[in-house]
Amino acid sequence: MSDATTVDYDGLIPNNVGLNDDARVRRALETWYPGYLDWWRTMGPEGFQDALVYLRTAVGVGAEGWARFGYVKMPEYRWGVLLAPKSEGRTIPFGAHKGEPAWQEVPGEYRAMLRRLLVIQGDTEPASVEQQRHLGATAPSQYDLRNLFQVNVEEGRHLWAMVYLLQKYFGRDGREESEELLRRHSGDPDTPRMLGAFNERTPDWLSFFMFTFFTDRDGKMQLHALAQSGFDPLSRTCRFMLTEEAHHMFVGETGIQRIIQRTCEAMREAGIDDPTDVERVRTLGVIDLPTIQKKANLHFSLTLDLFGSEISTNAANVFNAGLKGRYHEDRLTDDHRLLHDTYPVLRLKDGAVVKEEVPALSSLNMRLRDDFVADTEAGIARWNRVLERAGIEFRIRLPHVAFNRRIGEFAAVHADTDGRLSDDATWQARKAEMLPTADDYRFVQSLMRPMREPGSYSNWIAPPRAGIDNKPGDFEYVKIAT
Ligand SMILES: [Fe+2]
Ligand SMILES: [Fe+2]
Repeated sequence: MSDATTVDYDGLIPNNVGLNDDARVRRALETWYPGYLDWWRTMGPEGFQDALVYLRTAVGVGAEGWARFGYVKMPEYRWGVLLAPKSEGRTIPFGAHKGEPAWQEVPGEYRAMLRRLLVIQGDTEPASVEQQRHLGATAPSQYDLRNLFQVNVEEGRHLWAMVYLLQKYFGRDGREESEELLRRHSGDPDTPRMLGAFNERTPDWLSFFMFTFFTDRDGKMQLHALAQSGFDPLSRTCRFMLTEEAHHMFVGETGIQRIIQRTCEAMREAGIDDPTDVERVRTLGVIDLPTIQKKANLHFSLTLDLFGSEISTNAANVFNAGLKGRYHEDRLTDDHRLLHDTYPVLRLKDGAVVKEEVPALSSLNMRLRDDFVADTEAGIARWNRVLERAGIEFRIRLPHVAFNRRIGEFAAVHADTDGRLSDDATWQARKAEMLPTADDYRFVQSLMRPMREPGSYSNWIAPPRAGIDNKPGDFEYVKIAT
């Protein structure tokens, strides 16, 4: 038997869940593996399957030294099943079963609910790999190319994480769901991914960085909520996934930061003070700040939809059941049952946006979304410090939560980025100020030229402050097979 902190690397599937002693689950995963590899080759990073990529691989689950760096061909990446160590005597931290021992097996009465949570989380992981599969061709540097692939292989591992739970705890249903996770594809008209933002295109690197900044952050919030789960295997799985997720946040935040920095530098060199002089800024071959703002508006609003309806009985049920908690549930000091509490929710009432106190249990989606917005704002503030230091009179800001929504309270209305409701004609007339236009996409696309020379960066993005794994600036992160 392996204990939870040592990882068994000898078999086909690296793991710290004792697969060697669990023939049924090992066979199920080994049977699933060829289909996964086939999916990776056909739906994963296009054109780089034989390249040697300098990647980190998880080799432990302790706080220190959990990853090892080295060159690897992506199809040979050691995707594994890794759970954070078990904490002895853990109890269910919230809901109707609060205080009871955490479940090591699926509680029968919540089986369907739990399976649904795993499938929805699992579906997002391969979806983003699919969305990003064409980006390798236009990477602005070796460093960025490597980061893209790091995110991709880890999303692949996150799929493994959910598939393990499905195969281990859900028998035949779990096997079928695991196959379905490979069968649905992002943007496929017949078999799309389950959630809207995961069927959108990621056509360029500005989109990629926005996606990792906003949409991966939704992932982070969901994982935090699931890490609190009373179903202990899910909690341990998500806790380990969060260690990987931090790098995805880093890629998005610093990606946009470097774009802003480069735009500021180019404007300064050219003596342009007015950030809204889009035409002139674009002639410098950098991305103008209003376009960055519009992209942020788009990705923020798409990501808010992922949190679901503000008021939701389903959210109340999964909390009550002890399956999905709140962000940092274990640091909150209320009764963790919420039967008598309320929470403020922005609602649409008689054609106006108003704040209303709603039973706390029903507004858990809203609460997680608020935590997401707060987390996002910290990153935006760091982008704005670049603008401030450069002395440029422009700040990126988040649009109002009612802006451009398809789900929840504001799905049926048009609101501008300040939350002012408008009729259809006004919305159509003003849309191009608030969301990227076809012309904006064309311009960004025109900048997307691959930069393969180690240490060189496309003109529209600044180099990072430090290399990955402390590597020097001209390090060859990706050895492209010729
Ligand atoms: Fe993920
Ligand atoms: Fe991620």
